[in-house]
Amino acid sequence: MRPEEIISSFENKGFCIFNLGKSEVDAIPRLANELGSLTDGFYQNDSRQISFFHASETINTIEEIINSKAVAENITPNKTYIIRVVESGSTEMYRTHFDSHLYTLVIPLILPKSESPLRGQFYFLNRFRKKPKSEIENLLGKSLAFIKYRGKRGMVKLERKESFREVDLKIGQAMLFEGSVSLHGNYENKSGVKRITLILHFNDPFPFGAGYILRQFRSRFTRK
Ligand SMILES: [Fe+2]
Repeated sequence: MRPEEIISSFENKGFCIFNLGKSEVDAIPRLANELGSLTDGFYQNDSRQISFFHASETINTIEEIINSKAVAENITPNKTYIIRVVESGSTEMYRTHFDSHLYTLVIPLILPKSESPLRGQFYFLNRFRKKPKSEIENLLGKSLAFIKYRGKRGMVKLERKESFREVDLKIGQAMLFEGSVSLHGNYENKSGVKRITLILHFNDPFPFGAGYILRQFRSRFTRK
């Protein structure tokens, strides 16, 4: 798919799953080798991840389109790169949440084998809330979702909902979705193999709000 088609499909549905181009797919094994030794946690703005994203024409074009839309809405473009590492047996699971950023791009880098029923796979509920008009509204929505749907117990309620969807991305695929309005999280990883995911968050409309504080907290207590 061309970047324009990805954005168009994303705008119609709220998300788009697409195949990466040959150059990105070819670069994945080397990056997986470089990042494969990372241990459980979140790594913010790692230069190796940033280089991989910067080398991708598709991602650069998506970013340009998204940023021009942000400017039209008086949002100053901003972004955060995250490497998410979930080792088998990690306590990182069922952390159902809304992102602070409007757009989230997810690219799996290392995946557990698909035979394991619990391998940290992604789930989401597309367009689960309206776009918050203020940081207070954003924070309130995030807090309510946390209280109502947190943990394994919250999953029982979520799995019953019509919009609940499990997404099993393969290596070489990517997903762009509306992270700030689509409730999402990951299952537990009990596969025996670590999962590494590359994430790019675009355009937090409240860049120094709650999301910023959380990111500062995370970067202080996780490795970079
Ligand atoms: Fe998220």
